[in-house]
Amino acid sequence: MRDALKEIGVFVKHLLSVRDLKKEDVLSYFRKIEKMEEEVRKGRTNLLEDKIIATLFFEPSTRTKLSFQTAAKRLGAQVVNFNADASSLKKGESLMDTIRIIDGYVDAIVIRHEIEGAARFASEIATHPVINAGDGANQHPSQTLIDLYSIKKLRGKISGLNVTLFGDLKHARAMHSLFYGVAMFNRNIALVAPPGLSFDERTVEEVETEFGVKVTVKEKPEIDDCDVLYVCRIQKERFSDPYEAERVKKEFMLTQETLKKAKKDMIILHPLPKIDEIAHEVDSDSRAKYFQQAQLGVPVRMAILADLFGKV
Ligand code: NCD
Repeated sequence: MRDALKEIGVFVKHLLSVRDLKKEDVLSYFRKIEKMEEEVRKGRTNLLEDKIIATLFFEPSTRTKLSFQTAAKRLGAQVVNFNADASSLKKGESLMDTIRIIDGYVDAIVIRHEIEGAARFASEIATHPVINAGDGANQHPSQTLIDLYSIKKLRGKISGLNVTLFGDLKHARAMHSLFYGVAMFNRNIALVAPPGLSFDERTVEEVETEFGVKVTVKEKPEIDDCDVLYVCRIQKERFSDPYEAERVKKEFMLTQETLKKAKKDMIILHPLPKIDEIAHEVDSDSRAKYFQQAQLGVPVRMAILADLFGKV
């Protein structure tokens, strides 16, 4: 079906990986997000009133699923939700058949799956747009657009910043995606991870070569010259040994003490959920911007959805 559509010149747009995007694409998203923020201020729009969007989440989600659903509804679209635990997958149906069927019902599919490459696989089967809402430890492109837009909006600029990525870089798809995203705009990137939990060498080399950035690996965040401190949790569910995850977690926490030397205009971001890696006292620090960042999920995802259909 997809090949037949391709033959007659029908082009289907997807959002699968930040690696598929260029700096100009991100800047173009920024303009679309600003338009969507304006739409949100005005209320509900009808840009996608003839569309039905399916959300298929095979892994837990609060923000990503609900903000995609909210974004779709604010655009006037309807949403159908797939519950993996109560579906025919439980009877043994393949992911391929599941996608093929849902693709026949709806106009776009938002998918989160534990297998790396699952969203791209879905896009090969589907005749409609597919959005990757997280595939294993690999990619989470809509989160990266939220993160980059948050940096621009909450720090006031997107380039020329010292950015520190702090946490379980090895297992966090939000970090893998963001690494490419920040490298498009910034030259100085520091990586801080517990032993054995940084990016693999290939990923670092790829980003350094492609973007000409200087990546430094540190044991602890050197906070004094940092402009953006991006934290993520230890991704316990991706550890083969859960005790190891617990051990690492205990040694790894951002406190008010850590922030003493930080710049006044530094911002702290986090994709959330946060567990123990940020002390509660930090939430009330004016530099902690993660709750505002999460709110930007709706206009950013409105822009992503509207863009897929050429409506913004
Ligand atoms: C992230 C995810 O699922 O990758 N959450 C999110 O989408 N905001 C981060 C995480 O779970 O740590």
